[in-house]
Amino acid sequence: MKSTFRATSNIALVKYWGKRDAQLNLPANGSISVTMDEQLKTETTVEFSSKYKQDEVTLGERKLEGSERHRVVEQLDILRHKAGNKEYARIVTENAFPSAAGMASSASGYAALTLAASHALGLKMGVRELSVISRRGSGSACRSLFGGFVEWHRGERDDGSDSLAEPLSPAAHWKSLRNVIAIVKKDPKRILTRPGMNRTVLTSTLYQRRLQSISIILQRVRKALEEKNRAELFELVMRDSNSMHACMLDSYPPLFYMNEHSHKVIETVHALNDAYGEAVAGYTFDAGPNAHVFTEDKRVSTIRKMLSEISGVENVMVCKVGNGPVELKQHLF
Ligand code: DP6
Repeated sequence: MKSTFRATSNIALVKYWGKRDAQLNLPANGSISVTMDEQLKTETTVEFSSKYKQDEVTLGERKLEGSERHRVVEQLDILRHKAGNKEYARIVTENAFPSAAGMASSASGYAALTLAASHALGLKMGVRELSVISRRGSGSACRSLFGGFVEWHRGERDDGSDSLAEPLSPAAHWKSLRNVIAIVKKDPKRILTRPGMNRTVLTSTLYQRRLQSISIILQRVRKALEEKNRAELFELVMRDSNSMHACMLDSYPPLFYMNEHSHKVIETVHALNDAYGEAVAGYTFDAGPNAHVFTEDKRVSTIRKMLSEISGVENVMVCKVGNGPVELKQHLF
């Protein structure tokens, strides 16, 4: 009744922003992502046993309480219900990357949790079903069930059974692709993703335009990935990130997730691309100010240097495309 999994984060090339059903966590649009390597990993051990009198959740040194704990318990309840098991669990989770750096760990976190809990319960589920369940914990988590390049389908059904992630191609398809991450100085206050998405859906008029064009963008990104068409992919990635952040700004009151340091990164990448006469790099930003700059390995040292020299950039790390989750023999407790 004990199992341990490692999953890694993913970064969206076409962003998920906004839900069509908050209860089932169904997205308003499909998205495409790249799974990251083990520098952005979460490891989770789950044990179900009658010796536990309630669910105990520990993240690093911290015992989770309140809404953070509740979200994990809800995810366990879905799986317990499926397995017909009523036992409580102990969950211990370690993140390789500090959540405080504003790097989303919910994708790797809920992917690792869903895999470890379902194995611990002896549930024999296919990846499609696992994808549907991990989506309930955090939308982006369903994409972290696979390595390489992944698409999460919006789905049409009201019950969400067709809103799941599927691999487009494995990491080996494009080995030289890199994500140069610039971790920048944070602003103290930040609106969480869920209320942020909700505000955009309710108040932004621009958002409807974004949704109308998304299926064409998804199609173009799929093709650019398949052909490894760098310039096309990087431009599409930048435009999609800008489109999402424009909708954030068009929300009322406006949502600011990027800051002055993020804007400097944007200018720097455009200056570099102008100098080359084509897009040799493409930035993308999630609901935070850190920059993810996609490029190929031969440009990494130039880009790393350029990003490190920007004021407000505190750290630069370089990630490869990852292979997806693995089961670990060594448990965390
Ligand atoms: C901006 O997956 O964290 O990173 O489903 O509410 O848990 P919930 O949201 P989450 O949102 C990620 C939003 C994003 C874009 C993306 O990863 O596609």
